[in-house]
Amino acid sequence: MPPRRQSVSPSYRQVTVACSRLADTGGQHVVAPGARHQGAGCPPPGGGPSRSDDASGGRGPVTAPTDAEQGPNVARMYDYYLGGCHNFAADRAAAEQILRIFPDTGIAAQANRHFLRRAVRHAAELGVRQFLDIGAGLPTQGNVHEIVRQVAPDSAVVYVDYDEVAVTHARRLLPADGRTTVVHGDLRRPDELLTHPDVRAAIDLDRPVAVLLVAVLHFVTDAEQPWDAVARLRDATAPGSPLVVSHLTTDGAPPLPTQQGRAVYQRSSAPLVPRPHADVLRFFDGYDLVDPGLVRVAEWRPDGEPRERISHGYAGMGLRR
Ligand SMILES: C[S@@+](CC[C@H](N)C(=O)[O-])C[C@H]1O[C@@H](n2cnc3c(N)ncnc32)[C@H](O)[C@@H]1O
Repeated sequence: MPPRRQSVSPSYRQVTVACSRLADTGGQHVVAPGARHQGAGCPPPGGGPSRSDDASGGRGPVTAPTDAEQGPNVARMYDYYLGGCHNFAADRAAAEQILRIFPDTGIAAQANRHFLRRAVRHAAELGVRQFLDIGAGLPTQGNVHEIVRQVAPDSAVVYVDYDEVAVTHARRLLPADGRTTVVHGDLRRPDELLTHPDVRAAIDLDRPVAVLLVAVLHFVTDAEQPWDAVARLRDATAPGSPLVVSHLTTDGAPPLPTQQGRAVYQRSSAPLVPRPHADVLRFFDGYDLVDPGLVRVAEWRPDGEPRERISHGYAGMGLRR
């Protein structure tokens, strides 16, 4: 596996009071529709006495970001698109570059979150009671456990991310209710993930488990064999297990801006690998796609939720044969 810039830093634990507003609101990060900058309530960068480069939104101890944290990080850039306040100046600068190239990125990120909610609710309504959310990101509005438990309060939810910042925040902000687990793990190492003691304690692989790979596979290069990783997860899960995927695409994207956008991510914690429809469809080998198949994110089973029509990628759900 090619080396990748480390996005983790043990010292980050020192700034885990970040965004205490989230805890104050029971984990609900309320973001204005279409918001793309730091969330309402996040102090403006540079405003006030706190250091502007503090992912705590100015509420944490004044701890300088480490070298690793100085570089743009994909989890925190996404947080910025969604209007969150878990981001440093380097993340905001890179995200602003993307927003100049693709001004509707914030709206597309919101559309992706809406898809995640619809898919999770659908899986819960199908009777699935276990959820493995890989590449879960930073806690935000409408987290998986909140959606699932509206349908089935006793469901188990395991959040996985390879980014220690995301894991640290999730551990702090998500409920310690015995049914919500946060694991530091890597999609590119599915066997380690599947045998992780916390995953095994939370998930019974003999029963259906929804595997959520939402806006994460496009951070895994072809050389890192994402199709093999997904197949390994498929083989380990029981028939009837849903696979939920959303994925950025090159289809219909203008070549020059796409190239410019990829160049920005090339300098971040993970490269961006948008793929054509056929390549995304391959992730569903061994699955039966539920209606309407692999479609643009906003077109996947729209419901009464507010939704945005702008999609930068494909979304689908399959049920393991
Ligand atoms: C764009 S965010 C998506 C968050 C959430 N799934 C959503 O759709 O709202 C992508 C997340 O995937 C994580 N990620 C990227 N590559 C990963 C890998 N190989 N293993 C685990 N997590 C990964 C990043 O750290 C980041 O938090």
